[in-house]
Formats: sequence, C-alpha cells, structure tokens
Amino acid sequence: MSRAKWILLIILIVIVAIQLYRPAMTNPPIDASRTVQATAQVPPQVDAILRRSCYDCHSHETRWPWYTKIAPASWLLASDVNEGRQEANFSNWAAFDKPHAAKKLDRICKEVQGGDMPPWYYLPMHQTAKLSDADRQTLCNWAHGEEARISAGLTPAERAASAKAD
Ligand code: HEC
Repeated sequence: MSRAKWILLIILIVIVAIQLYRPAMTNPPIDASRTVQATAQVPPQVDAILRRSCYDCHSHETRWPWYTKIAPASWLLASDVNEGRQEANFSNWAAFDKPHAAKKLDRICKEVQGGDMPPWYYLPMHQTAKLSDADRQTLCNWAHGEEARISAGLTPAERAASAKAD
C-alpha cells in the first residue's frame, strides 16, 4: 500500500476505535412534583424558552439526535449534560433549598445576559436555541421576579446562606 493509503487506513481505524467508548446518554425518570414548573411559578413563555434553549443540558428531557451519538461529539455533549444537570436541573429543581434556588435564579440572568448560556459551541447545531434580546429580557425578568419572591421569605441566616451558595 502507498503511504497515503496507510495514513487513511490508520485515520479510519482511529475513528472506528473511538466509537467504542460510549458515554451514558440517558434521560432519568422525572418526578413531576420536583420540576421547576411544580416548585416555582413559570409562565408559558418562560417555559418555552427554557425548553428550547436550556433543556438539552439542564433537564431530564435531553434530545439525543444521531450526531450526538458519534464520538468525539458524544463525549462533549454527555459531559456537558452531566455537568449541566449538576449545576441546575429544571427536572429536579426541588434539589435546591430556597437560598440555593434564589442564587441559581440570579445566575440564570447573569449567564444569559453575559452570553455564556447556551454555550457558543452548542448553537451552530441548534439554531433554534439562540436567544433573542427579548428572550434574554424575559428570562431575566422571570428569574429576578422569582428570586425576589423567594428572598422575601428568607430568614437572615438563609439570606446569608444564599449569598454564599455556589
Ligand atoms: C450544551 C449544554 C448547555 C446548554 C444548552 C445550556 N447550558 Fe447552562 N450549563 C452548561 C454547563 C456544562 C454548565 C456548567 C459549567 C459552566 O458553568 O460553564 C452550565 C451551567 C449553568 C448555570 C450554573 C452557573 C453557576 O455558576 O451556578 C446556569 C444558571 C445555567 N447554566 C443556565 C443556563 C440557561 C438559562 C440555559 C438556557 C438559556 C443554559 N444554561 C443552556 C451547559 C449548558
């Protein structure tokens, strides 16, 4: 075989070999009493934006189309979903106590206003997840409204815990 053919063969073997490592790509069951809809007040237009732009990484309703199953894209998305669900999971919002929920709501506005969420590399393959300025405003108004509603009911100790939450 010529040198070019050997190189192509090796590239092909590497592409096939990396497919052998398959990260878990699952959607755990949802307990309807623990979702953000059940534990916070989520108006329909906010619900729609969250589902469209955030749910792939921050819920148990991740869409896993074929290209997400091919390495190395699968590795990136699977690790994003794991990390995203740990940081903020709209399917398990009850995991946050009140101080923590208030802090995360504040972060939601910061992340979208700063252009950090959804992550830039996710958008080329997910055009519909792009946020308009109006979407960002809607999310921020909601997040700050919810944060204020929760904060109003916090004790001074809980408020201090909220400031320190991560
Ligand atoms: C492609 C996956 C993906 C999408 C889509 C996505 N996120 Fe994230 N998000 C992550 C990952 C990964 C992290 C943890 C690492 C980090 O903070 O960058 C995260 C972290 C966060 C955090 C926690 C920040 C903190 O420090 O507490 C918030 C809040 C957040 N995202 C909000 C959103 C919102 C709101 C949307 C939709 C508008 C969204 N994300 C869309 C992957 C994603």
